[in-house]
Amino acid sequence: MKTLILYASKNGGTKEIAQRIANQMDNVTLCDLSGEIPQVEGFDCIVVGSSVYAAQIRKEALAFLAKYEDVLYTKRVGLFLSGIRENQEYWQKNFPSRMLADAKAAKFMGGIFDPKRAGLMDRFVMRVVGKIKTYHNDIDDEKILEFVNKLKS
Ligand SMILES: Cc1cc2nc3c(=O)[nH]c(=O)nc-3n(C[C@H](O)[C@H](O)[C@H](O)COP(=O)(O)O)c2cc1C
Repeated sequence: MKTLILYASKNGGTKEIAQRIANQMDNVTLCDLSGEIPQVEGFDCIVVGSSVYAAQIRKEALAFLAKYEDVLYTKRVGLFLSGIRENQEYWQKNFPSRMLADAKAAKFMGGIFDPKRAGLMDRFVMRVVGKIKTYHNDIDDEKILEFVNKLKS
């Protein structure tokens, strides 16, 4: 099974999660959605992951889903979100309902916040809204493996 893992990440958190997923799979191409994307047709399995900002996934992820929606319905698909507060609303807001129904795996992975990598505004919002000031990372191998196992099953 050839897998393409695509991620949309602002401060590197989602990239880290995508790398951890890739480490648990064989035959993987890992790719940043804000860069060049390989021909998706050549892959059996496509994973799309994005961080959530104010309940929205990143625009490059939205653009990819809109452009390749029909192709994705012919593939084994995994979706993951990265954020600090899980909310079921994020799925309905950002993904077509058929895609959610068809996906082999759809998981909220938790989030990563590194004040050293974030800009002033992001640090401000995290401090005031998220009550998070220091390094935060609640990603664990259990979540990663659960996602990968669903995708493979
Ligand atoms: C300005 C701002 C808004 C955010 N909004 C949300 C949100 O609505 N829901 C959520 O769960 N996490 C939210 N987060 C947390 C990020 O999604 C989380 O830290 C994520 O892992 C960052 O991934 P990235 O570095 O790949 O962009 C927000 C963070 C910032 C800085």
